Order: sequence, then structure tokens, then C-alpha cells
Amino acid sequence: MMVSPRVAELRSDGRTFHLGNGYFSYVMHILDGRYLTHLYWGAPLGWNAPLDPDSFILVAAPEYLATVPRGEDATEGDWPRAQSRFSLDTLPFEYPVWGTGDQRRGAVEATLGDGTGAMALEYRSYEIHDGVRRPEDLPLLRDDHNLGGATTLTVHLADPRGDVAVALHYVVLDRSPALFRWASITAGEGSQDASSREGASVVEIHRAESASVDLPTDHYDMVTLAGSWARERHPVRTVLTPGRHTVGTRAGASSHQTSPFVAVCEPESTERTGEVRAMALLYSGSFEAGADVDQYGRCRMTIGIDGYRGTVAPDDPFQTPAAALVYSGTGFTGMSDAFHTVVREGIVASRWRSTPRKTTINTWEAMYFDLNAERIATLAQDGRKIGAELLVLDDGWFSRRRDDTTSLGDWWVNRDLFPEGLGPVADAVRQEGLEFGIWIEPEMVSPESDLYREHPEWILRVDRRKPTQARNQYTLDLSNPAVVDFLFETVSTILRESTATYVKWDMNRQMTEAASPISRRHDQGSVMHRYILGLYDLMARLITAFPHVLFEGCAGGGGRMDLGLAHFAPRFWTSDQTDAVERLDIQYGSSLVFPPEMMGAHVSTVPNHVTGRTTPAWTRVLTALAFSYGYELDPAEQNVEDRATFVRGSELYRRLRDVAMTGRFVRLGSPSGAGGAVSANGGAAARTMIAGGDGGSRAWMIVADDGSELFIFAFRPLARPNEDPGALRIPSLPVSDAIFRDADTGRRYAAAHLRTRGLRLGGSGDFQARLWHLIRE
Ligand code: GLA
Repeated sequence: MMVSPRVAELRSDGRTFHLGNGYFSYVMHILDGRYLTHLYWGAPLGWNAPLDPDSFILVAAPEYLATVPRGEDATEGDWPRAQSRFSLDTLPFEYPVWGTGDQRRGAVEATLGDGTGAMALEYRSYEIHDGVRRPEDLPLLRDDHNLGGATTLTVHLADPRGDVAVALHYVVLDRSPALFRWASITAGEGSQDASSREGASVVEIHRAESASVDLPTDHYDMVTLAGSWARERHPVRTVLTPGRHTVGTRAGASSHQTSPFVAVCEPESTERTGEVRAMALLYSGSFEAGADVDQYGRCRMTIGIDGYRGTVAPDDPFQTPAAALVYSGTGFTGMSDAFHTVVREGIVASRWRSTPRKTTINTWEAMYFDLNAERIATLAQDGRKIGAELLVLDDGWFSRRRDDTTSLGDWWVNRDLFPEGLGPVADAVRQEGLEFGIWIEPEMVSPESDLYREHPEWILRVDRRKPTQARNQYTLDLSNPAVVDFLFETVSTILRESTATYVKWDMNRQMTEAASPISRRHDQGSVMHRYILGLYDLMARLITAFPHVLFEGCAGGGGRMDLGLAHFAPRFWTSDQTDAVERLDIQYGSSLVFPPEMMGAHVSTVPNHVTGRTTPAWTRVLTALAFSYGYELDPAEQNVEDRATFVRGSELYRRLRDVAMTGRFVRLGSPSGAGGAVSANGGAAARTMIAGGDGGSRAWMIVADDGSELFIFAFRPLARPNEDPGALRIPSLPVSDAIFRDADTGRRYAAAHLRTRGLRLGGSGDFQARLWHLIRE
């Protein structure tokens, strides 16, 4: 979806910085020549809109708060000349620090050279650069992004004592609904530790947020994503009460349990109305995100890396990952539109931006470890008959791996299963007209492997502590450049020999004993972060060497699905959960941030292997169809009717995906529970659901860019007695007086009718699913 708002602008009179475009304004102000305060983040303002800093800033401070004198030239020495005193605890800061008056959570916390931790940060200077400035070795926007002209503002802050300097970077673009922020922290000359032998500057960072924003006093709700393996990214809506509310992980991966995303909204905000401010981190490792509500009801919203400790020196900064900040005045739909635009036009490589994802057939749930060359060729044949265009050879093709207890690390083809190697297998698949893809899990090693026997020092481990296994495997130490080099050669060889054009890049355990045998004492605290840098380096090198290969991101399903990895992986395996009912909520929640074509969704057999549930084939097809569609079953084991249903599904997908790539994905229904997590609290929930509020209905739609075509999906997992499931009203149709014709039934609908009266799901019994494919006349 392309929009062309006003171009990005960045104005400054030396005291106020106003960044914005047609989507948002973001304003900072230097108070008293020293405090960088946050004035505004919201709907676009006129460039000359009067913003009186005092109205945002000053709160009469009670006696017991630490106060500072007010005025440009005020210092403690001559404070009686200052007009007044005020407390830093009442200022809205851009990058707050703890220890000198602001008692809330600091954006950066550190041990300074003298062992103390009280910090102060004062404004020093600013610079404006054309183009995107990015944190070194970390993802931000692609060089060939499609978000228009970019400007980067850098604001320099420093501790007056000279310990620490912080540079805050803000990237604003003509066509980006997101503002990008990151910070760079350096030790100043004043950080010299007199007692250190080298006399070197030593500042140890404990925490450094990518973004921290102080929102004014109000009532707020917070929305985060929570889950587990096979139940990823369910939205959770929390009323923000005084205190700290966080989500996060120290698992070394962005995780199944939560996601590097947080939104703060008005209590009344719904899918389509109200203000929402959201942050997502472009990072795949440990993080924390959340909101603190202070004594005045102000909300400090933060997102950043977690589980990081590291030293910085004057010429050796720590650079935080970047955060994408999105403001929406049109509820969660507006927020998701913004994230989808930024991901599609800015984060995903241009090569995949407008290339629809192929209909996939994956061997995993079809045959698990029971693979051989003949079975793969047959699966390709049967897959072609139901419309598959890409076959992915999953786990089990290498070394002696017959189950998940061995062989990770030994990436040579199992010649018992594939006597001629993988080349001929790939040829057989291609002969059927399918592309060939392959599964690998390069970051891992089985204790039972040649690699581990040769290089026991290549795993994350703590000296004299037995390394903990998960799924019978250890994590390789990607903070070690030798390991990264080895993996680059290994994966390159697999790609060359197998001739695969698609890689399912898996990572099936979280980190424990996250330490590196080659790191020195003071570098151990940054191992988890340096691991992620190693991973990004590895993936960047592979993508440069094999630009035609599509890398799918997978981590036991959706255990590392984030905007950092999206930079390298234009598709994710959303979840190991392929049950249609369970998938509804996972896809619903994932769509808060991710556009549908990035979310792998495969139809699997029944009873489902995770839940044991049996759902109709058409329900399974419709659940997956709006996303990156495929199959996770053996067609030969399906009955004739179901195979025919799959053929129809693949045909529909080919039709739908071109529309979806450039169109909008709009959630219509809400997940189960008390009205759905991102609906407004209380009874208002029903507003975003199929009326009747059975608590289980969900719906979404794909709308063509020009509004000429709609694919509307509705699901009602469980039947209820004596219930009118009501109508599904279709909001925001681009052309209000249009007439739409149902491609299947020929029935005609006026846009106004769709908007006000809606469509009726109908049917009876459990697992109802329906698609309306409407074409504008
Ligand atoms: C993980 C993935 C699955 C499959 C298995 C193979 O669980 O998420 O899709 O690839 O590993 O071991």
C-alpha cells in the first residue's frame, strides 16, 4: 500500500526539534539549555504549531523531591538568582538517567569509572545528516528501501562530569509511518579509573534502551504479545496501573513467550478508533519492553536489549539495536498498517518485496524422519497435483540423524537415504515443476556429533558447569568469529551441492550458560548480544553470496519472529501449531506487526499432531489462505474430497496472493476471551467482533490496493445453542458507492450494505469458516 504524505521534515531552532511527515510529529525541547525533554509524539502538527514547553513540563514539586534551580545559567552555586526550583522527577525526558533526581527508570544504567552509578545527561549539540544512519552491524532499513528520502538527527548528550556521552539517533523518512530511534553510548575522558592499571576509561553498561518516551498524565492500556511454543503471539491487553509493567526475555532469542513489541493506547482504543503508540525492536535476542506509570500518572514507555553488560571506552561505543516507533490515530488497524508498510517497503529485501511467496509443501508433518529420495520424488509429484510450487526437505536428510538425538553439526548428506546426494533429488523435484528448498539448523550442535567431538570449545558454556541440553542439543558460540566462518562455509557448501533456492533456517533451543569459552572475563556479559551480531553477520554474508535464495526464519516455529530477523528472512514459520483453531489466534496476534505474506501457514492432516483435533479440510484451507500458504501433509494419505479441496485452495491462493502483496490486511474479528485482547475493555469488545460476541469468532480481510477486490474470511470455531452469530460489518472500503459481486455465488452487494449491514457467516456446527471473494463491478 503506497501513500504519499508530506515529505519528512526535521526542523530545529536550536532549542526545539520537530521531526515528522504526513503520519506523525515528534517533538523534543532543550529545557534551560541542558535537559533534553520529550514534548510530543502524535498526529502531525503544523511545523510552526506553538508548543509551550512549560505546559508539558512543570509540575509543582513537593518538598521532599530533589530539586534543581530553573534558568539557562542557573547552577547550584548561585541558585538564589534562579527564578524557581523544580524536580527532574517531573520532567518528560528523551533519554532519562537515574541517580540525580529522576527516580523513575533510567534509559541507560551504568557503573562509572569510580564505581558509582548516579548519572546526569545534559544537552551538548546536534547534527543533521541526509540519509539513514544505522547502528553498526545491526539491522535498520535496507539500502534500497522504498520509504522515500531519509534524514537522521543526532543529538549529543553528555554527563557534565565527563564520564559518559550518549548520542541519540532519530531517522525520519518521507513515506515511513515509523520513526526509527537508537542510541550510542561512549565513555568520556572523565571516566578514567585512576586505579585501573592501564588508566583506561571504564564504564560498564548494565542497560541501554533503544527508545524511552514519556507520555503525559492520562489513563492508558498496554498491549503486548504473549504465548508459548505452539501458542505464539496472543495479544494481551493490560490496564496500566501505577508501577512497572514489562514483557521480556533473557532466553537469547526474541522467544515464543513474548515479542519485542509494546503498544500503549487509550482505554477506549479499538481496532479502528483511538490513539495507539507502539514500539517494536529490530532485534532477535533478549529484550525488555514495557511501561512505567509514575506518581503523576505519567507513562514512561520503553524498549531495548536486556541481559547485556559491557564496557565502553571513548573510542569504543555500545550501539543499541534500533526501535521502530509507530503512532496511530486510527486504532490497532492503523498501527498494523504502519508496521506492515515499514516491513514491506523498508525492512524486507527488495527482491522479495513484490515476489509472492510460493505454495509450499514441507516434509516435516508429512513424514518426519522417515525420508528417502524416492519418497521425496513422490511427494513432489503428489504435491504438484494439489498445487504446490516449492518442496522443502525438512529435518533428517543429513549424517546419521534418524531422530532428534544426534548429528546436528554434521551437515553431510545421508547416503543411505540419498545415495546420489541431494542434487538429483532437487532435480527430481524440479522436474515436477517445483522449486527445491532445504531445512538447516546451523546454530546448533548435537553432543552426539563429529563436530562436537572435534570442537567441544565451540559451544556456549560456563567453565566447570555442565552445559544444559535442550532438545538434545547445544548452542554453538556465534560470538566466536571462527564458528561464524565455519558456518558460512558449511551452509554455502550445502546450498551449492543441494542446489536449493530456499532455506528453512531453524533454531530449536533457547540459550543457557550463555558464556563464551574464548571471551575474557569482562566480555562475558555481552556474549548473548555478540551472538546475535554473529548471526546477523552470517546471514548477511550468505544473502550476499546467494541472493536468489529465500531464507525462511524458524525457531521451533515462531520462537524468533521479530523485525531484526525480518531483515534477512522474508518469511517465517509462524508456529509449529498447525491446528486450524489454534492458528487463528496466532495469526491474528502476529498480524499486529507482520504483513500476511511473511507468515508461513500450512494446511496439515487430521487429527492434528499437536492438538489431536479434527477440523474440516476447507476450514484448514481458509485459515491458512490469507498468509504464505502451503501444506504440511502427505497428499497420498488424504481422501479424494480433501485433495480436491486442497486443489481449490491452491488455485485461490494463486489468485489472492497478488492482491495481498500490495493490498491491505485488516483484522475484522477478535480472538477469544473477554472480547479479544486489542478490543476496548469491557462491553465495547463486541464492536470489533462478529456481533453476537460468541467469544470465539474471528475474521480478517485482504483488500486490493485500489479497493477493487476483497477476500473476506470469517471463522466460528464452536457452535453455540440459540445464538444468532450476527453479521460481519466491513469497515473502511476505499470506494463507498461501489457495487461488489461475489465471485462464487454472483450475489451483488453495495459497499454501503457491506459497511452497515455486513455479511452473515451462516452455517451450523463447529469449525465454520467462510470466504467471500468480492470483486468490484
Ligand atoms: C522445529 C520446526 C519444525 C521442524 C522441526 C524439525 O520444531 O519448527 O517445523 O522443522 O524443528 O526438527
